[in-house]
Amino acid sequence: MQETQQGASRAGEHAEDVAAQALARWADRPGPLLPILHEIQEAVGYIPGEVVPQIARGLNLSRAEVHGVISYYHHFRTQAPARHVIQVCRAESCQAMGAEALYEHVLQRTGCTQHATAGHACRSADGAYQVEPVYCLGLCAASPALMIDQSLHARISPARFDSLVEALEEGKR
Ligand code: FES
Repeated sequence: MQETQQGASRAGEHAEDVAAQALARWADRPGPLLPILHEIQEAVGYIPGEVVPQIARGLNLSRAEVHGVISYYHHFRTQAPARHVIQVCRAESCQAMGAEALYEHVLQRTGCTQHATAGHACRSADGAYQVEPVYCLGLCAASPALMIDQSLHARISPARFDSLVEALEEGKR
């Protein structure tokens, strides 16, 4: 627990440094909030609460305005992600090609017991996997699609998903 708190505090400090650099780069440009949030999430994996007042001050916004944008966009996380993040596309084209059955399979294979809703990931009890529904990954012509960590995968069947996860798990040992 203490280790987790230390990890969170290190992430918070790192995020504050990243936010300071992003603010210096973006504060005078139009529409700076989203690029700043993207930079923080890319560098830290999520947007720790510590940076919200810092961003609000830097952009002359209220904390509520910054919170509002973070919670509006499902892409932004406010908690550290699991070791592997799996985003399954559930938009129209993928649905027509079996995305619902694939999604159920992904939940079962990763041990994520609850359905996730947009913006709320489902995590496995061991912290290894996090499954998030997303709505279009830009691979509609090669549905169904999903993303594992930062890698996109097209025309995924349950069997192909299993081999991807096996490769991931073997690579870890
Ligand atoms: S609908 Fe799934 S990638 Fe576009």
